Amino acid sequence: MRREWWHDKVAYQIYPKSFRDTNGDGIGDLPGIIEKLDYLKDLGVDIVWISPIFCSPMVDNGYDISDYYDIDPMFGTMEDMDQLIEEGKKRGISILLDLVVNHCSSEHEFFKKAMEDPDGPYGQYFYIRDGKDGLPPNNWRSYFGPSAWTKIPGYENKFYLHSYAAEQPDLNWENPEVREKIYEMVCWWMEKGLGGFRIDAIMDIKKDLTWQDLPVDGPDGMGAIYKINQKVKGIDAFLLELRRRCFTPYDGFGIGEALKINEETLKKSIGDGGYFSSIFAFEPCHVYRKGDDFTTYDFPIDFHEWREKTFQNHELIGDIGFEANLIGNHDQPRGASLFIPKKDYGFNSVSALATIIFCQRGLPFIYQGEEIGMTNREGWKKEEYADSATLGKFEYFEQWGYDIEKIEKVIATHSRDNGRTPMQWDDSEHGGFTIGKPWLVVNENYKEINVAAQEREYGSILNFYKRLIAFRKSEEYKEILTYGSISQIYGQYDYIFAYRRALGNQCLDLICNFCGEEQVVELQEEYDNVIFVNQEQTTMIGNRIVLKPYEVVVFEKLNTV
Ligand code: NOJ
Ligand code: CA
Repeated sequence: MRREWWHDKVAYQIYPKSFRDTNGDGIGDLPGIIEKLDYLKDLGVDIVWISPIFCSPMVDNGYDISDYYDIDPMFGTMEDMDQLIEEGKKRGISILLDLVVNHCSSEHEFFKKAMEDPDGPYGQYFYIRDGKDGLPPNNWRSYFGPSAWTKIPGYENKFYLHSYAAEQPDLNWENPEVREKIYEMVCWWMEKGLGGFRIDAIMDIKKDLTWQDLPVDGPDGMGAIYKINQKVKGIDAFLLELRRRCFTPYDGFGIGEALKINEETLKKSIGDGGYFSSIFAFEPCHVYRKGDDFTTYDFPIDFHEWREKTFQNHELIGDIGFEANLIGNHDQPRGASLFIPKKDYGFNSVSALATIIFCQRGLPFIYQGEEIGMTNREGWKKEEYADSATLGKFEYFEQWGYDIEKIEKVIATHSRDNGRTPMQWDDSEHGGFTIGKPWLVVNENYKEINVAAQEREYGSILNFYKRLIAFRKSEEYKEILTYGSISQIYGQYDYIFAYRRALGNQCLDLICNFCGEEQVVELQEEYDNVIFVNQEQTTMIGNRIVLKPYEVVVFEKLNTV
């Protein structure tokens, strides 16, 4: 594997609407990100991915872009953006923006022109098909619930395709003119000095051009649209072209949001010559998704499944490249709530979870607020949700006669709004996020969980994260933590998450007791050093280690060969 500049970096995702508001309108903004660059630098972050900040009607919080060449005024100006890139560079922080090109907004000029004349050239920029006697052309269900087809106003039987909300029409990647427009835009941004892009919904860009129905998988008679990705061929050409035209010339970092891909696609996605620099390791962190149906989502996750998927995934990847390891993002509930049973939440469990993620092979990605242990919000009322996908779920399940009480519970624990409540900076009103009225309710626990308090407290989660990142990047262990192989150890123990990183004649064994009870592990090795812990006073009795609840220990063994 060729060495790349981003291999040993630590990344941080910002959801800009909820990060830091500087002008009191209740919405986070670019000056807010600039203000917090020193905080990120101090944490040890090298790469910052910012969810979309482009002009948008905000139907899906910016994942519906109406102008790719401008900043939405709610976030600031292009001057702010230029300054952010500059200030980032001064601190050794690369900025990644979010590349949303499976679809644009229905307010984008291309789409408006297409709607005025669906048979004209801009009609070819989208997927426009005749319906079946006024009904959609096929039974594809959008990610957000209803049909993936919406009728074009003024036409009896013409529909356009949208994998997500109706206000997010899918761009026609088969049209070379569309691809050119996209590449031109990406290069324009790369010229500004970005480190690269996170690439949204990218596995959706290839459609099944036979437009056949999908097997029915719900009471609505439809089939989930993502299933076409698993059967269509030919996405390779688009992805490789995107990389060649937009990323290779700038040595840019492109990380794909590639969900539910098969083994073969995974192997082609990363590493030398891959479609992307990296992709997110969703397999292990999505184990709570038992089926397509939201009602089957589990909470909290099943430890054993999580562990199993993690190692299966590493086995598949081997040494071909790196995936990005994550605990959460803006599409997920809070990791601290999802991975840790509520009764066990605290410094020990959150720091153990972070260590398990950070010492694996792959790029660590922090989602804003994880570094202080932010949790799901409790007590959501229906009218407090802002996310269109969450609201769509209420509508969908009501319409199809599901047990509403059960649905409300699943939504409360799994709504993406849990991950989107504003960042908790201090214990002043609204957690120091804004002096105005926040666009989304702040989690009431901001008085206990906030950055300022944790900066003051030596043994806080925040200070632990700094120590963990410093360990990951230390001269002594950076090489093995980045490039070392990974394999599971002590798998016969319940609730022990343990693995070996090995490189040359050095090896590191991480052993973590991920449950609320003490556990004793009989060690199979004699170690030279204990090099990282999350709790004080590790107890050893002979070759046995007595692990306290959520205790993690990293041992070093030298001269293994
Ligand atoms: C994935 C993004 O992460 C999510 O927030 C968005 O709703 C969809 N893609 C559509 O762009
Ligand atoms: Ca603002």
